[in-house]
Amino acid sequence: MNKTVLTGDRPTGKLHLGHYVGSIENRIRLQNEHEKSFYMIADVQALTDNAENPEKVRSNVLEVAMDNLACGLDPEKTTFFIQSQIPEIAELTIYFMNLVTLARLRRNPTVKNEMQQKGYGDDVPAGFLMYPVSQAADILTFKANTVPVGEDQLPVLEQANEIAHDFNRIYGEVFDKITHITSATPRLMGIDGNAKMSKSLGNGIYLSDSRAEIEKKVMAMYTDPTHVHVQDPGKVEGNVVFTYLDIFDSNHDEVAELKEQYKKGGLGDVVIKKRLIDVLDNFLSPIRERRAVYESNPQLVTDILQAGTERAREIAKQTLAEVKNVMKINYFN
Ligand code: TRP
Repeated sequence: MNKTVLTGDRPTGKLHLGHYVGSIENRIRLQNEHEKSFYMIADVQALTDNAENPEKVRSNVLEVAMDNLACGLDPEKTTFFIQSQIPEIAELTIYFMNLVTLARLRRNPTVKNEMQQKGYGDDVPAGFLMYPVSQAADILTFKANTVPVGEDQLPVLEQANEIAHDFNRIYGEVFDKITHITSATPRLMGIDGNAKMSKSLGNGIYLSDSRAEIEKKVMAMYTDPTHVHVQDPGKVEGNVVFTYLDIFDSNHDEVAELKEQYKKGGLGDVVIKKRLIDVLDNFLSPIRERRAVYESNPQLVTDILQAGTERAREIAKQTLAEVKNVMKINYFN
């Protein structure tokens, strides 16, 4: 089977370490293992809950593109494109809408959660409620079958598979089943110990953060509130510093030793925090350097997006021709 990878980000802010661990790392690996790879900037999806903030979406298109380029997503291997510039995605969304009920849309746990967070209730924008339908179209317009995402996206992909399945049953086999690729690393907690790193919680470390920003954030990290004096025994579970060291520090033996010492007492927070600052700075500094090249030449990024969008559009047109054929709405050819 020909494997095609597709993934995307909503351009609503710069990307953080949680994005890296949850999805970007997999994208970079998969672009080398798959014949075709697509990266989409989901500006249309971002507008479903930002209709009144077009400048925010606009300005973050280049930011998320630069974050991915800086991490090593390679435009020679991965086609970068902007969702809104592929009208075929919107067209396919319209056909998919007939295959989904309002009740099913309301049951999607990810959407439900987001609606609660935003306090939408019944006043949810229709476009937001049905973004999983449009996300199914994002993927299937490119006949992608491999989608690296964070685990919060699994209910969205499940719904996409239902749509693909129904489409195939009614009109004929056009789409493959979509396989998700999630990270082996558990979801990255925020610096405050909250289970999720997120922009709205203000608890993230960004891929573009300077060393000074990393220092400030790590020094403010949640550790163990009962570990007041250096000699007090400390807790390692739920301690953000150790959680991050487990993920980003390649010297597992030393981390294990530090944990033992911390549990016994006699190891201060500042020692482990200083270590984490170096570990994170070492991890982020090559990303920061590559990002600086694009920041000083944003036209380079625009060119990558434009060339990729043109290529993506050709493929989208082919899929939609096939879709309209099987749907019997191909009157003039
Ligand atoms: N919903 C995804 C997110 O918020 C972004 C996205 C849009 C996406 N379309 C996609 C991800 C298609 C994978 C495939 O992160």
